[in-house]
Amino acid sequence: MTEPVRIGLLGRGTVGEAFLELVRERADAVGAATGRRPEIAGVLNRSEGDFDEILAASDVIVELIGGTEPAREYVLRALREGRHVASANKQLIAQHGDELFGAARESGVQLRFEASVAGVIPVIRVIQESLAATDLRKVFGIVNGTTNFILTEMAKTGASYADALGRAQELGYAEADPSDDVGGADAAAKMAILARLAFHTPVSLDDVAFEGIEHVQPDDLAYAKEFGLSLKLLGVAERHREAISVRVFPCFLYRGHPLAPVEGPFNAVMVEAPSITEITMSGPGAGGTETASAVLGDVVSIISGKAPVHAVRERLEVLRDVDSAFYLHLEVADRPGVLAQIATHLGDNEVSVKSVVQWGLGDDARLVMVMHECAESRFYAAVEEIGKLGFMRSPPRSIRVIEEEFV
Ligand SMILES: NC(=O)c1ccc[n+]([C@@H]2O[C@H](COP(=O)([O-])OP(=O)(O)OC[C@H]3O[C@@H](n4cnc5c(N)ncnc54)[C@H](OP(=O)(O)O)[C@@H]3O)[C@@H](O)[C@H]2O)c1
Repeated sequence: MTEPVRIGLLGRGTVGEAFLELVRERADAVGAATGRRPEIAGVLNRSEGDFDEILAASDVIVELIGGTEPAREYVLRALREGRHVASANKQLIAQHGDELFGAARESGVQLRFEASVAGVIPVIRVIQESLAATDLRKVFGIVNGTTNFILTEMAKTGASYADALGRAQELGYAEADPSDDVGGADAAAKMAILARLAFHTPVSLDDVAFEGIEHVQPDDLAYAKEFGLSLKLLGVAERHREAISVRVFPCFLYRGHPLAPVEGPFNAVMVEAPSITEITMSGPGAGGTETASAVLGDVVSIISGKAPVHAVRERLEVLRDVDSAFYLHLEVADRPGVLAQIATHLGDNEVSVKSVVQWGLGDDARLVMVMHECAESRFYAAVEEIGKLGFMRSPPRSIRVIEEEFV
């Protein structure tokens, strides 16, 4: 006879419904494998269920409401009253991680949140468990499927940002209000979670510098193709000796980079450390059934395992001015001496040019350049000076580039 594990489900939306269905389908198999058969003890949404009754009847609380309140209040109460919790809620973990991990530690229960980053790709389990003894230096990737779909659509069809966003909304890859996704805030919350786990240090949302994709122009993608580049919204968390940086920004990748072929709504995360070189994990970053699979996986881990190691050391300094390579797009009047003046401003700021191409003549002249890596503050100082030059026909546009070429 398998003993039941009683699950209280908070939230019955896209993921909650899929979770109920998956429990119906997989309960016997989970019971056979773990000795504990999952059973739904109660369901809460805005029109059904009572939290206190559900909590009293449950061993595990699955939180699929989203947002910070009332999810935070319910999860904290569950942890304090000795219940394990599985949640798919990135905002909750990113914004209230310290409080929630503390409550779980004090009660000796597990808080699992695999589905909060990169959907069903098991990136959290890999960082917290498989690589628990590894000195990770960098975690980076495509952690927002909406923006990856939009950028793929723009690159493939030449569509404008607005048209590609409309297509994403039609297909259900973007919400009616897409601002958190396209502005980078969603990816920032996910990177705060990954950085905390990878570097064992408190990381809050305020520590993450983020930019979105709203300003990307179709011609940036067209010109970049000439350099063999593809554009992704990347989240990058890096360890720099006794400091870290955590950032989200649109970024060009060279052909051959493991993230370059990740297209449409897919996600991919890479981890790097001297002892492991690098690992790339990719797959669906969202979707009801996919996300519910990750949540049920957390429930199985809770049933069968110990809490993952979550050692938190002192807070590390967060660096804002790190080194990056850049693409620079300049619309200029086609006159003698233009390139020399631009080169002078770049050189004065110690920015060196890797490649440069001129398109068009006369009123249509454009210079498209790729720089070598340098401190971002130096690059932006040069761009500010260039923007003031009399021959500029519009403000300079720049996008970061990851220079590394893979073979
Ligand atoms: N959708 C995805 O592909 C995906 C992927 C990865 C992670 N996630 C995460 O999974 C979580 C759930 O997402 P979802 O797409 O399933 O959201 P959703 O479709 O909007 O569902 C939210 C559910 O929470 C309930 N709810 C909202 N406010 C409540 C309140 N104050 N009290 C009780 N119940 C409340 C809603 O109730 P009503 O039914 O009464 O409105 C609904 O059942 C979020 O944290 C999200 O970020 C989603």
